[in-house]
Amino acid sequence: NVTKEFVRGIPKAELHLHLEGTLEPELKLALAEKNKIDIGQTTIEEVRKSYQFDSLPSFLNVYYPAMNVLQDEEDFYQLAMAYFEKVQAHNVRYAELFFDPQAHTTRGVPFETVINGYYRAIQESEKFGVQSALIMCFLRDMSAESAEETFEQALPYQDKILGIGLDSDEKGNPPSKFAAVFKKAKAAGFKITMHCDIDQENSIEHIRQVIEDIQVDRIDHGTNIVESPALTQYAKEHGIGLTSCPVSNGFVVDDMKGKEILQLLHEGVKVTVNSDDPAYFQSYISDDYFTLSEAYGLTPEDIVTLAKNSFEIAWIPAEQKATYL
Ligand code: HPA
Ligand code: ZN
Repeated sequence: NVTKEFVRGIPKAELHLHLEGTLEPELKLALAEKNKIDIGQTTIEEVRKSYQFDSLPSFLNVYYPAMNVLQDEEDFYQLAMAYFEKVQAHNVRYAELFFDPQAHTTRGVPFETVINGYYRAIQESEKFGVQSALIMCFLRDMSAESAEETFEQALPYQDKILGIGLDSDEKGNPPSKFAAVFKKAKAAGFKITMHCDIDQENSIEHIRQVIEDIQVDRIDHGTNIVESPALTQYAKEHGIGLTSCPVSNGFVVDDMKGKEILQLLHEGVKVTVNSDDPAYFQSYISDDYFTLSEAYGLTPEDIVTLAKNSFEIAWIPAEQKATYL
């Protein structure tokens, strides 16, 4: 049977993790003090109490303002290093990490401050037994023009960014809104992924757009794909991976979507388990595997397949995958 130790011990890749979502209350308070930013809370308990969300927008309303405490390159470096240090115990061997440049550039923090801080940490992650890479996300509730500007800012740093994603509030912000900039990103050689959050309006149409029109390499969340046998079959045949986040789902839609995750897993779709925003959902990746397992009765084979899938859909060369599998 599946124990916490078993789950922790399995080597795994984390593919759906927002670096800004790893900001623990302790570091938040320390950076607030260092940078003299009033975040409205002064104790860990107060910070934790502010973590009340029952939907994606209510989560984002807590998540973005907290980022004000991130000001200089060292802050971004420290945030990412704290994550690597923490997931050592979870046997994360490889991680592709999202970051949201617009959440910082819109409040006056230069793009280069963000990328230089995060990239320095990425280069040092091996110290914690983790290889890692960065995925830059556009905020979908901002304009397509703003995404284009961000893309231009990123081009000089292309060697430091593996892929491009899309996150934030999906309501009214379909993938098609960003078709032009993702076409450019693909042509420039970036890997492409997009969030198709759980139970959104037009969920299946958004999933259809990312698969057929944008031609993504992966989909973040995306478990609503089970509603379309044709799209599910397509994802299976083309090895399009899904990065699901059961504990995060439990917070934002009150359903871990374990049934859908297991259905996809057993049908041979490359679905994975990830932590999304671990500091906010108080669940690092092994906890996600374990919580899902307890609630839905996963077998050890299910856990092994989920972990294997995480390396199979990682954006690393086949020779490198072989070293993990
Ligand atoms: N969805 C959309 N935006 C986000 C998420 C997510 O899961 N996590 C952090 N920003
Ligand atoms: Zn996410």
